Amino acid sequence: MNHLSQIAQKLPEHDLDALLITSEPGERYALGFHGEGVVLVTRKGAHYSTDGRYMEQAKLQVTGAELTLTYTGKGHMALAKEYMKEHHLERVGFESGQMPVDEYHRWAELLPCILTPAQGLLDGLRASKDPQELEAMRQAQRITDQAFGEILNFIRPGRTEREIAARLVYELLRLGGEKMAFDPIVAAGANGSKPHAQPGDQAVAPGMFLTMDFGCVWEGYCSDMTRTVCVGQPTEEMERVYQTVLDAQKAGIAAARAGVTGKSVDAAARQVMEEAGYEEYFSHSLGHSLGLEIHESPNLSYTNEKPLPVGAVTSVEPGIYLPGRFGVRIEDVVALGETGCENLTQSPKNLIVL
Ligand code: GLY
Ligand code: MN
Repeated sequence: MNHLSQIAQKLPEHDLDALLITSEPGERYALGFHGEGVVLVTRKGAHYSTDGRYMEQAKLQVTGAELTLTYTGKGHMALAKEYMKEHHLERVGFESGQMPVDEYHRWAELLPCILTPAQGLLDGLRASKDPQELEAMRQAQRITDQAFGEILNFIRPGRTEREIAARLVYELLRLGGEKMAFDPIVAAGANGSKPHAQPGDQAVAPGMFLTMDFGCVWEGYCSDMTRTVCVGQPTEEMERVYQTVLDAQKAGIAAARAGVTGKSVDAAARQVMEEAGYEEYFSHSLGHSLGLEIHESPNLSYTNEKPLPVGAVTSVEPGIYLPGRFGVRIEDVVALGETGCENLTQSPKNLIVL
């Protein structure tokens, strides 16, 4: 999955001769390959340097870029400098949101060009997923849905959060995930009131909610889902809280489409929380984009007043967190179209009582 031509087409708009790509997600997006290398995309071609650990695979996978092997005495920077001189590249953008300051200074001192911050070029392109990217994300989500089905058979009183998290990792890998999209969150009982609780030695017991937030990577692309299930019978209050989160999530999904602002989608879910009296316990924004990284832009948040693009893939994940008592979060991932959205998450959302 290579996006060299899309990047090249954007260069004139940003008044650049080339884009220097040094991050893992940037490299993946440009080449559909990750080999700890450096990509230079110009208006007419591309150059990729990598080292001996990756070259054999790069030759098989990378198309549309000239490949150069680094060696002792001639690393990425020296090779990029040579290529820039040869092709008269004067204005070169770089991934300003990804590059450490020290590294920026080293590049800026060495390169014979004006190095210009250009994170927005890649972020803008990456915000809209193309059909191939969408298919990878559907597959990542299918694996994640299957892992959810499997974990339901594993959960029982006495199992600890840590055991359930470990089993989720096992299932996601066994079912085809390349790696985790992030460390799974598993929170039982009162721990569920911390949205990003770390799995520990808390054991599941009857009458507890159990929140699981997990995802994997497929062909470089992430999935993300959260379900809260109940072990044993819930109280009336627990059912009410669960239903409020579910109604808010459905309202968010109903409002999610391209062309509206992230703020308006967030507001649709938040309004349900307000009407039920739980607004103050919904302590984060409604959702984030994801793709090659688990958190990308744009967000479904009250601060995002820009229209969402067609092809944005975002989470919709409202939660209610009652400190010291319990929490509920329900998260699906949706792809935005002009008239609505496709829900990539297929797992049921009615309250599951185990
Ligand atoms: N699922 C993890 C997160 O959204 O931060
Ligand atoms: Mn998420």
